[in-house]
Amino acid sequence: MGLESLRINGLRLKYAMEEMSKIGAIAGGGVQRLSLSDEDKEARDLFVHWLKELNLDITIDEIGNVFGKRPGRYPDLPPVMSGSHLDSQPKGGRFDGTLGVLGALEVFRTIEENNIETNRTLTIVNWTNEEGTRFSPVMSGSGVWVGALEKEWMYNRTDTEGKRFVNELIRIGYRGNVPSRSSEIHSYFEYHIEQGPILEKACKTIGVPKGIVGIHCSDIYIKGETNHVGPTPMEGRHNALCAAAEMILKVDELPAKMGGNMVATSGEIHNRPNSRNTIPDDVHFTIDMRAWEDDLIQKGFEDLKNSFEEIAQKRGCPVRIEETLSVPHAEFDQKLVQNVFRVSENLGYPGQHMLSGAVHDAGYITQIAPAAMIFVPSIGGRSHVEIEDTTWTDCEAGANVLLHCMLQSASVL
Ligand code: GLV
Ligand code: MN
Ligand code: MN
Repeated sequence: MGLESLRINGLRLKYAMEEMSKIGAIAGGGVQRLSLSDEDKEARDLFVHWLKELNLDITIDEIGNVFGKRPGRYPDLPPVMSGSHLDSQPKGGRFDGTLGVLGALEVFRTIEENNIETNRTLTIVNWTNEEGTRFSPVMSGSGVWVGALEKEWMYNRTDTEGKRFVNELIRIGYRGNVPSRSSEIHSYFEYHIEQGPILEKACKTIGVPKGIVGIHCSDIYIKGETNHVGPTPMEGRHNALCAAAEMILKVDELPAKMGGNMVATSGEIHNRPNSRNTIPDDVHFTIDMRAWEDDLIQKGFEDLKNSFEEIAQKRGCPVRIEETLSVPHAEFDQKLVQNVFRVSENLGYPGQHMLSGAVHDAGYITQIAPAAMIFVPSIGGRSHVEIEDTTWTDCEAGANVLLHCMLQSASVL
């Protein structure tokens, strides 16, 4: 059988997806597998079990990234890598990240059962903490691996209960002893759901992003003065939550003011003492800004800092602004992008060039190796919600594209 006619097993991929989505299952069809939680551990264990069934050479690095290698004919050549993440949002969908990991697993299973020997080694990966919800920032496993984030800094990040990242990593048994440092790779492919409405609207099966928008995350801390809500006159109050409310509206208004394709969001807030009859004096909220144009993000952030200082002054509520993450936009390798597009069309799946507004580990990988992504449609453009969905036919299509992109790259000497 010629390799051109090789296809993945769509039913087996569906079964693996369904098995994985039982872990951390929540009402409404979604999953909650926060990074380094018991559910994350269970998902990792199942993944490792499946890697063992394929006799892959498994390594776990110090930040918890899990790699499985299938040696090629020339094991000294840099490998072809693919994967994504198994952690999820608090009310996450079944497909975000998981489809990329299990899509790659299905590719490995297909290659294995057909006894295919590739020239290059193939590596599958599950990156630690892509979502960055429990421990910010996003993409910390791949960020440490490529050297963009400091391992020790990440180890000391805490969740809202004050639990340290490293302690939770050890607790779930996934602090490996292999240094988390990138090795040379030939090419990296990440398969993912689109998470937006473009493919569905355009009636296309495969999205081929040319890159990923830049992301800037910050944490805002506001101090006020607490007091009883009844006897305390309105005049002269220093209500930290009111200051936060004004600031959050500035965040929402920023993209329209800046132009370009910017989006800006405050998605997390902690208000203390969080009592209905006490004036809040301690608020922490987050900002996530994204744009293709990196300078727009920087200008926007400067603009916000100025408005926040004014609001803080006016309300007598001092503000502290902490930049948590700044990652410039990432451009994928043009040759790989063209290959993904060509492979899709050859397999009979209409392709669509686009940009990714969600961030992905593939973005960090562009800093050290040629990378590209493969998107499949998200029904209704919904993601980071329990009802996130993609048809099994589209899941199968994307995995077939991944299969042929990997085989092609793995044959290159
Ligand atoms: C990851 O899911 C992100 O885009 O924030
Ligand atoms: Mn994802
Ligand atoms: Mn996500």
